[in-house]
Amino acid sequence: MRKLIKNGTIVTAADTYVGDILIHDGIIARIGADLDAEGAEIVDASGCFVFPGGVDPHTHLDMPFGGTVTVDDFESGTIAAAFGGTTTIIDFCLTSKGKPLAEAVQAWHAKSAGKAVIDYGFHLMVSEVTDEVLLELPRIIEEEGITSLKVFMAYKNVLQADDGTLYRTLQVAKEQGALVMVHAENGDVIDYLVREALEAGHTEPIYHALTRPPQLEGEATGRAAGLTELADSQLYVVHVTCADAVEKIAEARRRGLRVYGETCPQYLVLDQTYLEKPNFEGAKYVWSPPLREKRNQAVLWDALWNGQLQAIGSDQCSFDFKGQKELGIADFSKIPNGGPTIEDRFSLLYSEGVHKGRLSINKFVDIIATSAAKLFGLFPRKGTIAVGSDADIVIFDPSVERTLSAETHHMKVDYNAFEGMQVFGEPVSVLVRGEFVIRDRTFAGKPGSGRYTHRKRFGEADKPAVKKLPIGGSS
Ligand code: URP
Ligand code: ZN
Ligand code: ZN
Ligand code: ZN
Repeated sequence: MRKLIKNGTIVTAADTYVGDILIHDGIIARIGADLDAEGAEIVDASGCFVFPGGVDPHTHLDMPFGGTVTVDDFESGTIAAAFGGTTTIIDFCLTSKGKPLAEAVQAWHAKSAGKAVIDYGFHLMVSEVTDEVLLELPRIIEEEGITSLKVFMAYKNVLQADDGTLYRTLQVAKEQGALVMVHAENGDVIDYLVREALEAGHTEPIYHALTRPPQLEGEATGRAAGLTELADSQLYVVHVTCADAVEKIAEARRRGLRVYGETCPQYLVLDQTYLEKPNFEGAKYVWSPPLREKRNQAVLWDALWNGQLQAIGSDQCSFDFKGQKELGIADFSKIPNGGPTIEDRFSLLYSEGVHKGRLSINKFVDIIATSAAKLFGLFPRKGTIAVGSDADIVIFDPSVERTLSAETHHMKVDYNAFEGMQVFGEPVSVLVRGEFVIRDRTFAGKPGSGRYTHRKRFGEADKPAVKKLPIGGSS
């Protein structure tokens, strides 16, 4: 089946131009001016931008955490992602010490198969590097195409790994062509500060932020960059929130290290004062690392613009306010960490970034799709609009003005972190491999239509990829 997307303004990380896109068997077959329909179904994109589908490299769907499980799973989470303009996610597969990694990967396949409506891959958490792990990792990287490994430097006694484990993981990643991701906060010192605050009787949500100061994010980021240099490996720092951490990444990059960073929409538009909202509402805004003082927002926007940070992950990790966030009503350290962001990531970055003049439209595409596709071995199949790429496409109307709200969002979670915010622009139709998942703002997909994606090894995307043209001649 062919489709012809006509008259839209096509935007990639490099170019902006008016043109048509011919899709054949899920692949972009031709791009040009006034293409012949050749019997294809015509999709009119006049007045709209035609973007590559968003690539969200950081989600937690159906994840057990903080004594409970995220409310949004691979079905509701990917439906919401699609409404928001995201066509590929990479979710974190959690592992447990002493248990085979393959078991964890199978568990993540079981959570996602038959549910996802967009394409997806997994990152693999590493919490220890034993002989068994060393045997299993190369096989999982090869057979599953899981080419990114996640190490937590925080969440002491739960997910945290020690520095030796981080260093060994960096070494394995170097050998195997994988990218190491870190949650960079000093978990040992945070653990001490949390106990000190609770002993002093401080139980309110704001103490979540006060016991995780930016210095501890900067310190861990610098430590991880140093270990990366020693291992001559590659590092991606997730959810960067503050100047302290941006400086460490920028310094490492100035010195030529393969160190990359991501921030998230919440750190760009919300700040620490949200944790002070009355009636325990501050709990809705408990993320780790925490929301920061407002002055950090400008630092993060600048870092995206000047390339010190490369990508935007949602860090989708949704817990209901009722019954889940409330687990921490008497003790901030028991509030499940995380929030609902998968749906609004794309539009918030367009509206606050492009519409408000903080990002060029091409830079927007780069940070919302292209750079993550490159870093995580999906490019050029995903993350751009080019002949031979998957037809993952967002038709986006920039003239719409709307209000973000739990009343209208598609996530299951009972609140919206950006409630009441005005945004400009809306994904009108979204295609994954040439099939509508959202058509004229209505869900048109089917649970299970999303495909698991094997990813290439780190750095392979930078090698010239010679693609076979999907259709030849003019038939
Ligand atoms: O608060 C957060 N970020 N929750 C999700 C887990 C993580 O650390 O990414
Ligand atoms: Zn065909
Ligand atoms: Zn984290
Ligand atoms: Zn996360």
